[in-house]
Amino acid sequence: MKDFTGYINANRQRFIDELLDFLRIPSVSADSKYKKDVEHAAEWVKKSLLAAGTDKAEIIPTSMHPIVYAEKIIDPKLPTVLAYGHYDVQPPDPLNLWKSPPFEPVIKDGKIYARGSCDDKGQVYMHVKALEVMMKNGGPPCNVKFLIEGEEEVGSVSLGDFVKKNRKKLEADIILISDTEIIANDVPSITVGLRGLTYVEVEVTGPGRDLHSGVYGGAVPNPINILCDMINSLKDKNGHITIPGFYKDVRVVPAKERKELNKAPFSLKKYKSEVGIEDVTGEKGYTTLERTAIRPSLDVNGIWGGYTGEGSKTVIASKAYAKISMRLVPNQDSGKMTALFTKHFKKIAPPSVKVKVTPFHGGEPVLLETNSAGYRAASEAMNTSFGKKPIPTRGGGSIPIVALFKKELGLDSVMLGFGLNSDNIHSPNEHYGVFNYMKGIETITLFYSNFAREVSKVKS
Ligand code: BES
Ligand code: MN
Ligand code: MN
Repeated sequence: MKDFTGYINANRQRFIDELLDFLRIPSVSADSKYKKDVEHAAEWVKKSLLAAGTDKAEIIPTSMHPIVYAEKIIDPKLPTVLAYGHYDVQPPDPLNLWKSPPFEPVIKDGKIYARGSCDDKGQVYMHVKALEVMMKNGGPPCNVKFLIEGEEEVGSVSLGDFVKKNRKKLEADIILISDTEIIANDVPSITVGLRGLTYVEVEVTGPGRDLHSGVYGGAVPNPINILCDMINSLKDKNGHITIPGFYKDVRVVPAKERKELNKAPFSLKKYKSEVGIEDVTGEKGYTTLERTAIRPSLDVNGIWGGYTGEGSKTVIASKAYAKISMRLVPNQDSGKMTALFTKHFKKIAPPSVKVKVTPFHGGEPVLLETNSAGYRAASEAMNTSFGKKPIPTRGGGSIPIVALFKKELGLDSVMLGFGLNSDNIHSPNEHYGVFNYMKGIETITLFYSNFAREVSKVKS
């Protein structure tokens, strides 16, 4: 088997410097004021793919943010790997909590600090560099396609349309994604499940205008108080979600599988100290690992209304709002859960207020096989690069396009991610270990060799 580590080590500094350039582009997809920067990032990705050795690379404009597609076709008879990732990032707010500016990357204690360093620019760029490594050392053993989007953090709507209309172009044998985590640097793991997502905004209207809270207080419905009551009733004292029918489609995980899942190394003490909490909460009867992997959840992501400026203002607001997300597990359906939520939320509203529910993007949950050519190739690759066989785990986050790839292209994904849950993704001071970045590049090159071999085994 080829050994790429010499080339990787010799080019280490350049690989890091190039990533820092990528991280300087503030490609925030959620905020239209960054639209030009998002376009700039797409151009940057395209150029980097051409430089790494793809035959062609193109930018596909969409109604929101551009998609970058590139390919290196070695021989149509060889298997094809489609690498997917996203170049868009989450908004950097709250800015005052960053120790260094989010788009001025710095390396401290072996970690690259910048928005997007781990989620997902650093992990996307590992794939670009893995291609370069293979191109400079005899060429990849598979055909390679790249699909790098700019809307993952806002629901991948344009990419969903693109996939449906470009089945032929995206033909492949496997999808390879680095946008998830490993348990620890000395405990490699491969994500085989993701949760789905339903996301809604709710609006509760009380009086037709804001009122003096002394003149009217005690006699009129306060939409903020009422919204809080309504939200509070969405879970019972056992942490069970109270929406009728919400658990009906939840796949019952067999005891054996739960036992396996709980074998993963996990320290509750470390978990609590890392997130800065005194204690964990959640659904009764499940461990913390289970609560974030095999059970659905419901969280308020933001809540506002009334006066939130400096000092005090005595007022009963006319309206109150909240953004609510529900993480879903197999076999819940995002559209169905949105409908159940909407019906229930309207039903629990007291007659004194009006309620509006606006659904946002969603995504379906995923559960992958471990006895597939793709999983075996990834597992073997990590075994070589980390010197330890990886554990299959399930991630609590969502990547909506994974279920869509399966549905529209009939393709399974391999989620070969290298982040750590302490990397602060979506949070101030996001970072990505240089170790993880370099290991990722190495592991991806190994994946290609293993996958070519695994597929030829299946075919012969
Ligand atoms: N890379 C994450 C998803 C992730 C993180 C999966 C960690 C597993 C472990 C992705 O960029 C993300 O944040 N997705 C959003 C999806 C949403 C905006 C549709 C999420 O999970 O909130
Ligand atoms: Mn991501
Ligand atoms: Mn993300």
